[in-house]
Amino acid sequence: MDGVTAFVLAGGRSSRMGSDKALLQLGGLTLLERTLHTAQAVAERVYISGPRPRYEQFGVVVEDVYPDCGPLGGIHAALSATETDLNLVLSVDMPMMTPGFLEWLVRQAQAAPELIVVPDALGGLQPLCAIYRPQVRTVAEEALKRGDYKISHLFSALPTRQIPLPEIVAAGFSENLFRNVNTSEEYGEVVRQKSPAPEPQPKETEKQASMHERKPYIEFQNVHKAFGSNLVLDGVSFDVMPGETVCILGRSGVGKSVSLHQIMGFLKPDSGRIWVAYEDVTDYGEAEMERIRKKVTMVFQNGALFDSLTVGENVAFPLRERGGLEEEQIYQIIDGLLDMVGVREFRDLLPSDLSTGMKRSVAIARALAAQPDAVLYDEPTTMVDPLMAHLLGDLIQKLKKQLKLTSIVVTHDMALAKKLADRLLFLHEARAIFFGTFKEMAACQEPIVQEFLDLDSMDFEHYFGAQRPPHQTRFGTP
Ligand SMILES: Nc1ncnc2c1ncn2[C@@H]1O[C@H](COP(=O)(O)OP(=O)(O)O)[C@@H](O)[C@H]1O
Ligand SMILES: [Mg+2]
Repeated sequence: MDGVTAFVLAGGRSSRMGSDKALLQLGGLTLLERTLHTAQAVAERVYISGPRPRYEQFGVVVEDVYPDCGPLGGIHAALSATETDLNLVLSVDMPMMTPGFLEWLVRQAQAAPELIVVPDALGGLQPLCAIYRPQVRTVAEEALKRGDYKISHLFSALPTRQIPLPEIVAAGFSENLFRNVNTSEEYGEVVRQKSPAPEPQPKETEKQASMHERKPYIEFQNVHKAFGSNLVLDGVSFDVMPGETVCILGRSGVGKSVSLHQIMGFLKPDSGRIWVAYEDVTDYGEAEMERIRKKVTMVFQNGALFDSLTVGENVAFPLRERGGLEEEQIYQIIDGLLDMVGVREFRDLLPSDLSTGMKRSVAIARALAAQPDAVLYDEPTTMVDPLMAHLLGDLIQKLKKQLKLTSIVVTHDMALAKKLADRLLFLHEARAIFFGTFKEMAACQEPIVQEFLDLDSMDFEHYFGAQRPPHQTRFGTP
């Protein structure tokens, strides 16, 4: 809605849960992400209010001008930063809150001359799901300077519209929307309830993306890579926009995996630039790449699971590495992720007990545990039976739709590429001979691209598969 800015108070300090509430997982997303998505539905811009180092990976952070003064400090910082008349302040710990209610609240504020519009629910005013006009800032600042951190004092000092509960209920909303999560028990309760809060939603919505002016999330700029005399990539350029899925196609040995490994920083290009997560990572060292690898994870061809750890512990690994989670939370997250990829019943088995396809599902769950913005899949359906290939394809599509992950899928599987790709990159003899949509591909004059389009998926392994036939193919001697 125009003229509305939202500020999500992530806080971070002194949580009674012994960990950072904002980073608690609920339905595959952190509370912070859920709240950001809910707020995005009604606000032109959404900011996070809290310590920058902790939250900058999730969006644009506004830090307190008066730190350690509780939520009033956050409200003050929000109103110091805003450029709009209406400012929604929303706490991170109301996971039941819906875009529908927020929209209604904004409409109440648009119709009200008061400086603050605050709902009265659950036995009190809800200052952390309320709308503030910029004029409130001065009074907030005076209070902070006095050492008076009670938000309620704003309501008595300034023209405030308190929306009584009956009005909220009459508009069709439940006061449960305001329920906080403060303790593990409350958290568990909310988890057990079928929450009416938003579906798992885009990690990087268009609004968030617009903060980056629709820049690519990943980009190759004229990348050259050779191993000795083996020239693998000879000036390859392509880009992947946030939320987009790009499939990389091409025959075995053409440099598909090498491309992914360069994105992860396992290999470096000889020349050209590589951008990942909006950063030029070409000259990054290990420490900087470690930071990037928290945002971009790779699902390896062989799954790369730890053989001695159970399925559950494999998925827990990135969670334990990240730290700050209690055991109970870790188990909830593991179960959620294994559920999502459809292998929950194998939680306590070892990887060696699973088929290749199942292992790959577990590897995908493990990649998601790191809560990446982007996932790189290397040949996700190779070497599995057709049914499992189909299931894995559906899974990747589900993740693409539900989490709007930015993805690169390296594949030989034309059916998979058709299902998933927003755009396709076709590598051939060290060059990107095609980069575009399927539609554009039909118009592409490159004979090899045309032949590729003519192939049906059954034939495909035959021409591009890892086990190429010993005889000459239509594309020349392997
Ligand atoms: N670490 C490496 N050292 C030397 N050569 C490599 C290395 N990694 C890949 N190559 C070579 O680079 C080429 C591209 O490999 P790769 O990207 O794995 O192909 P694919 O497209 O099948 O994934 C191959 O010729 C391979 O032998
Ligand atoms: Mg490969």
